[in-house]
Amino acid sequence: MKITYYGHSCFGVEIKGKHLLFDPFISPNELAKNIDIKTIKADYILISHGHEDHIADAVSLAKRTGAKVICTYEIYVWLSKQGVENIHPMNIGGKVKLDFGNVKCVNAVHSSSLPDGSYGGNPMGFVVESEEGNFYYAGDTALTYDMKLIGEYRQINFAFLPIGDNFTMGTENAMLASDFINCDDIIGMHYDTFGYIKIDHNESQNKFKRSGKSLTLMQIGETITK
Ligand code: NI
Ligand code: MN
Repeated sequence: MKITYYGHSCFGVEIKGKHLLFDPFISPNELAKNIDIKTIKADYILISHGHEDHIADAVSLAKRTGAKVICTYEIYVWLSKQGVENIHPMNIGGKVKLDFGNVKCVNAVHSSSLPDGSYGGNPMGFVVESEEGNFYYAGDTALTYDMKLIGEYRQINFAFLPIGDNFTMGTENAMLASDFINCDDIIGMHYDTFGYIKIDHNESQNKFKRSGKSLTLMQIGETITK
């Protein structure tokens, strides 16, 4: 799998030649100003919840790429009103089989309203299963004991976890989440973008290292292979 970071909680993941894009928030993100949004490929856009910092570029990217958007029913209704046509509505607990693998929607402890204030349904995380490996994309969430279910349900090869604190869990709770999902290979997200969520990179990474875990903090625009 090839993973590209576009800042905040936005990642591209390439699996079996298909491009998945998570939580597109690029054009309003000052830290991602060097990303040319027109070059981003997407066959699927997965949206964890309706907050602006996860959905800002969803309509324009969905329209340009024709990607299938995977989101809650409530976000499906909102996107439909804005002319997005290729949408697959889901909810927590549900799984869908797609051409690159499966996507299962899992619990996230957070809130979800859309930019116009309308209700976005429940916030979600995703477990993606494929022949190239399985991963967990947590979305915005607090630490929750439900994460144990994810570790029991599937072997997770790596996980995207929020670490910025304030609006989501921070580094120390992300380490417990890593225990719950039984996966020590963590890619951090939802940090540094705003004043409230600035972190000390070395401190967070050292905490993980001391527990025998790995916290990858990708450069915006960087691509890694898993
Ligand atoms: Ni949020
Ligand atoms: Mn957020």
